[in-house]
Amino acid sequence: MTTIGFIGSGQVGGTLARMAAGVGYDVVVSNSRGPETLTELVEEIGTRARAGTTEEAARAGDLVVVSVPLRALGDLPVADLVGKTVVDTCNYYPRRDGAIPVLDEETTTSSELLAALLPGAHVVKAFNNIAYVHLPMLARPPGDPERAALPIAGDDDTPEAASAKASVVELVERIGFHAHDTGPLAEGWRFQPSTPAYAAPYSPDGLSVWPPERGRQVTEAELSELLASATRSGETQRRA
Ligand SMILES: NC(=O)c1ccc[n+]([C@@H]2O[C@H](COP(=O)([O-])OP(=O)(O)OC[C@H]3O[C@@H](n4cnc5c(N)ncnc54)[C@H](OP(=O)(O)O)[C@@H]3O)[C@@H](O)[C@H]2O)c1
Repeated sequence: MTTIGFIGSGQVGGTLARMAAGVGYDVVVSNSRGPETLTELVEEIGTRARAGTTEEAARAGDLVVVSVPLRALGDLPVADLVGKTVVDTCNYYPRRDGAIPVLDEETTTSSELLAALLPGAHVVKAFNNIAYVHLPMLARPPGDPERAALPIAGDDDTPEAASAKASVVELVERIGFHAHDTGPLAEGWRFQPSTPAYAAPYSPDGLSVWPPERGRQVTEAELSELLASATRSGETQRRA
């Protein structure tokens, strides 16, 4: 039985916890305010869920989803994440998170920043480029021809890293999407905010970022083109 710990159980973390429990994972949810504030979510999910501290979620998880505002990365339970597969859903929004010069200057990416904070963990970037409302809306069972593709990025240069990445591919596939491998973690910028693959393609008109009522399946061929067309621009990032 695989357990997923959630550090951050808000729009994305809470949605993924519901979906993961729905396909057979056990989940341990956590947030900044403490387990007692997550009673409602746990009751809604049912017997596969429990709430804990961030340390407990990290220790319990075979996979640990980190889904917090980027400004909160300094609060992660670093020691409890050694050796863990960490799924990074986080995005950099300077107006929300405060300016992070190495990201503005594009000398690194947000997921590599997280990986640098977590020695011994295997960080895989996933679920970053889709609005949380579209996750349950667009999920389809295996074999469904309408399955949308979601990008992931992660290193796979050691057997442990490759195994971590494979477990995230399995998570994406089990909850209802085709996992498209974008390459190593350093390639994760290709689906960060303001890139062509970010959020809008999953909206009904393929253009606007926030139309919560309906979604749109994005094929792997389309996603592949969008990722390939991404360019890096400090200006684009600063405007976000
Ligand atoms: N919303 C989307 O559609 C979407 C899509 C893709 C990616 N993302 C990215 O995913 C991340 C999460 O987004 P979200 O929309 O789910 O945010 P959210 O709804 O605001 O939830 C954030 C979660 O993080 C927790 N948190 C905040 N500070 C924390 C800390 N210091 N320690 C532990 N937990 C902490 C919050 O707990 P408390 O409430 O107790 O503070 C809450 O459970 C962000 O980086 C975002 O940019 C969002």
